[in-house]
Amino acid sequence: MFTYTANPARVVFGSGTLAVVPDELQRLGASRVLLVAGKSAAEAADRTADALGPLLAARFGEPTMHTPVEVTERALALVVEHSVDCVVAIGGGSATGLAKALALRTDIPQVIVPTTYAGSEMTPVVGQTENGRKTTQSSPKVLPEVVVYDVDLTLGLPVPTSLASGVNAMAHAVEALYSAEANPIVDQLALAAIRLLAAALPRIAADPSDADARTDALRAAWLAGSCLGSVGMGLHHKLCHTLGGSFGLPHAETHTIVLPHAMAYNAPNAREAMRRIAEALGAPDAPTAVFDLLASLPVPRSLAEIGLAEGDLAKAAELATAAPYPNPRELTRDGIEELLRHAWSGTRPVPAEGTPPDLRRLTQEVVDSFAGTPDPRLRELLSELVRTLHSYVVRTDLTQEEWEYAIGFLTRTGQISSDTRQEFILLSDTLGVSSVVDVLTNSRTPDTTPSAVLGPFYVEGPPETEQGADLAEGLPGTPLWTDVQVTEPDGTPVPDAVVDVWQSNEDGFYDVQLPDLDGPVLRARFRTDAEGRLRFWTIVPSAYPIPDDGPVGQMLTAVERHPFRAPHVHFMIAKPGYRTLVTQLFVRGGDYLDSDTVFGVKDGLIVDFAERTGPAPDGREPWRRLEFTFRVTRA
Ligand code: BEZ
Ligand code: FE
Repeated sequence: MFTYTANPARVVFGSGTLAVVPDELQRLGASRVLLVAGKSAAEAADRTADALGPLLAARFGEPTMHTPVEVTERALALVVEHSVDCVVAIGGGSATGLAKALALRTDIPQVIVPTTYAGSEMTPVVGQTENGRKTTQSSPKVLPEVVVYDVDLTLGLPVPTSLASGVNAMAHAVEALYSAEANPIVDQLALAAIRLLAAALPRIAADPSDADARTDALRAAWLAGSCLGSVGMGLHHKLCHTLGGSFGLPHAETHTIVLPHAMAYNAPNAREAMRRIAEALGAPDAPTAVFDLLASLPVPRSLAEIGLAEGDLAKAAELATAAPYPNPRELTRDGIEELLRHAWSGTRPVPAEGTPPDLRRLTQEVVDSFAGTPDPRLRELLSELVRTLHSYVVRTDLTQEEWEYAIGFLTRTGQISSDTRQEFILLSDTLGVSSVVDVLTNSRTPDTTPSAVLGPFYVEGPPETEQGADLAEGLPGTPLWTDVQVTEPDGTPVPDAVVDVWQSNEDGFYDVQLPDLDGPVLRARFRTDAEGRLRFWTIVPSAYPIPDDGPVGQMLTAVERHPFRAPHVHFMIAKPGYRTLVTQLFVRGGDYLDSDTVFGVKDGLIVDFAERTGPAPDGREPWRRLEFTFRVTRA
């Protein structure tokens, strides 16, 4: 069982959305607005004041960190004096905090325009300071009615503030995942936030005006704020609170220093959360991945660096463990002191036991080695191949022996290959790769006939044959009269198309597999007539095994897969100005239709090879008839 309470704030997200604030006020029925914004948001506030015109009742320009009650009271006096019926707050935590403190006292609606990533606009919690003591309370009155996220307003946010509040947001997401109140909905929000932030923060550090990175970070802030508003936070937030409150350390910086160490402390008791965070970060271990991410950013890394005395560590541990609170791992004084010592010196956490080594740098080095490739497509293909192969080795924890086996397997695959035996194609076919490439390349137009793999038995330039001829020429098998037409998708006939046809004999062999056979058998080239039609005799194809006396056959045996292809006839239809269609028609009711060993069967290619009663025109019986319309499209 889980409980999820959605916090129903209305959100407007985008670029230039500050301009919709007057509309949002109108929706709320507000007519006397208090505009709250500190210095950092003064320009946006001036613009908003102009846009509000007569709706603006008063302005307040000194929202203050930690929401001191004296400041709130000054703003409250304005609310009363000007009969304010709505507050608009533009800025970071101080502006939002003040709007919430006013709402707590008056229940006036709030429109919040956040300019940092701290996420408090998504929560029903307000923290206030009185006589130097900070207390927090939660009330539905405090939850903002409307949140307007304007990416443009974040473009100028200085890098240090961006990173500190971004990491604060990441901490909300991290702690949500191992919160006692964690639930599947919040988990998804949290993981998405972590992914977005991990990618966005380095880009913001490199270029604070990168609008895409800013968009991702602000989205993540919204998601992480929703986590913060829905579930309780743990060790990390308590520690930052203690360090900020009792040792006068800059609050924002404590987040970037403490997070990986708090995660490492909790990791043994939050394995699933850590696994998911690591996966979101594409790394083997979550705390070290967060540490490495932060180490790559221009943020302080140690508590020593921001002025905590080593002698204060024991005291800090004592304060942080004084009052119990929910946290995945029990909070012991010694344990927390050790954690704080790591944070104080800024050492990299030790990955959990059994964590595979982090190979991301090695992978990146190899990918970087392709940076000078003149052909961009070649660069992309090689880079992705290396990423995929490395990731495969890591994810499967591949052993040296297994890799040597794989190399040996590929070597044998090459050695058995010749002009008439293409084992690599078989490998590609039996792994389904040929069908994936085929679908991607050839099946993007829904109104044309689906394609199917070429297979290894096509021979170029088969002999041209007259319509009506018999491809089987007396071979055993059930006679098949084939009567097909080639048209465009709208039914317009395609005359003079070159149609190559090939198939196996009754025993399941193609002519090229029978060394004693002379000349092409069950293989021909035709031309469609003026109506796009093509008629010829052949025999009903039978199911057959692909060649399984090589490495591919060994693989099929090892996985207990059969080597059979469902019965089919191959067609290749070509005409200048048209897309060449390579396909196969499968016998409805034939064997292996749902387990074709090369994954070549498609619903649209399963066709009636209709049984006929009475003798065929040439006297043979029984016989069958195949009718089909191939739809091809212009190139
Ligand atoms: C074929 O249909 O001829 C074929 C396709 C893939 C692998 C082996 C045979
Ligand atoms: Fe075939």
